[in-house]
Amino acid sequence: MNANRHSHRDTHTAGSSSCPDGLPTSITAAELHDANRRRWEAAADDWKRLRDQDGGWRRCPQEPHLAFEGQVLETVFEVIGALEGKKVCVVGSGDNYAAFALAGSGAEVTSVDISEQQLQDAASRASEIGLEIRFICADAADLRSLADSNFDLVCSTNGFFVWLADLPMVFSEIARILKPGGYYVFYDVHPFQRPWKDQVKPIEMAKQYWDRDPYESCAGETAYKSHWTLADILNALVESGLSVRKVVESAAVNSRFWQGPSYGPGTDDSLQDWRHNPRAGLPVWLTVAAVKT
Ligand SMILES: C[S@@+](CC[C@H](N)C(=O)[O-])C[C@H]1O[C@@H](n2cnc3c(N)ncnc32)[C@H](O)[C@@H]1O
Repeated sequence: MNANRHSHRDTHTAGSSSCPDGLPTSITAAELHDANRRRWEAAADDWKRLRDQDGGWRRCPQEPHLAFEGQVLETVFEVIGALEGKKVCVVGSGDNYAAFALAGSGAEVTSVDISEQQLQDAASRASEIGLEIRFICADAADLRSLADSNFDLVCSTNGFFVWLADLPMVFSEIARILKPGGYYVFYDVHPFQRPWKDQVKPIEMAKQYWDRDPYESCAGETAYKSHWTLADILNALVESGLSVRKVVESAAVNSRFWQGPSYGPGTDDSLQDWRHNPRAGLPVWLTVAAVKT
């Protein structure tokens, strides 16, 4: 089930857009995030419908592995131990499967997202199944509603970074709200998947790996995505004061990752074979555990 929910991976590439590449230089990160907020508000009803079809939110509290890929749950248990009573913040919480899974594992969970509508949907689901979660609508680059040194664990999952115009700012906010000794554990789309055209064959570059500037997305509402490189991500972690303890690069668990947003179970197993689908020969998920020392 966990692979099914990743059908909203963001594989949009510059080559698949008819929009002009450049952005006005005067646009701020906060304005880019606000455009992305409107895009996610507009998408909320569709995501609610899809998540109601799979019903995974009912299962995640008892089956937490359903909410994660990239060995995140194993990594969380490895670095944090039992979650009972631990204070956890899920940032960019979206469908909130991660928040539900961690709350079901005994953590005291705060769920943060920039989209009010998605949080309301998650809050009504949580109350339906009797889960206590605190929901906060905020830009992850400005978490002033959360106190310093407050959480044992911060998590983010699955296609969050591409929506962030200021990754260093987000990481420094995450570092600020972590207790000393607390961990940030994330998995996100591996940067090596970003430069390609979204096609099986031939494998073809749509942009240079290090073309990271925000560009306009044409799907629905105008939104702005940023392609962070591996070095950008690791350096931003280190500069925020976090020490990297573990890095995992992993493949998709089934062909769902490659099959777009149709949301059915993955059926074409040949997409998992790199000889047929060369992008499957590169890591799909990047998982990192970093500690506030
Ligand atoms: C691809 S979804 C992934 C979310 C979740 N991990 C999931 O699997 O559903 C990206 C999420 O990030 C949220 N988001 C985008 N920009 C954000 C920002 N600046 N601050 C907080 N959340 C943001 C969106 O509203 C959306 O819910």
